[in-house]
Amino acid sequence: MILPILRYPDRRLRIVAKKVSTVDNTIKKLVKNMFATMHAEDGIGLAATQVNHHLQVVVTDVLDSEDDYLLLKNRKHNISETKDQSRPLCFINPKITEKDGRETHIEGCLSVPGFQAEVSRFNHIMVQALNEKGETFTLQATGLLAICIQHEIDHLNGILFVDYLSKLKQKRLLEKTKKAAKA
Ligand code: NI
Repeated sequence: MILPILRYPDRRLRIVAKKVSTVDNTIKKLVKNMFATMHAEDGIGLAATQVNHHLQVVVTDVLDSEDDYLLLKNRKHNISETKDQSRPLCFINPKITEKDGRETHIEGCLSVPGFQAEVSRFNHIMVQALNEKGETFTLQATGLLAICIQHEIDHLNGILFVDYLSKLKQKRLLEKTKKAAKA
């Protein structure tokens, strides 16, 4: 099922997501619908916040950086996953445990259609989360996947990539969005 995506400047995008207590069938269904929505919209990442579910759930599907998947281990259960199985990814209650380096990239967002801007992020992160089966895993990510994960975790905290822009650029974007909504 494809879910409607909240668009900037919808105030509900500012709600801070709650931790998932149990990965039950409701969460599994949400994850499934989030994957369907992300793929239907040609996105590389989606946070539950964007589909008006204020829980710490993120999905990603980053195609073009193979190196990003080199270290994917289910440490708790001692299961290693192959590259193919590691994409697409689901992160429940994600937490960045290490971060290093800075990189500037052009970002976009399904909640801010038709707009892109440069944002500075860490280019190496270590993230710990639960997968859609409720198993703990740790992932080392670099490049586009690292950027995507940071962007999506921001969503869970009610932060949008446009918040990093200058006040003037934000004002212009808001005016443009209001104009487009009227038209
Ligand atoms: Ni986004």
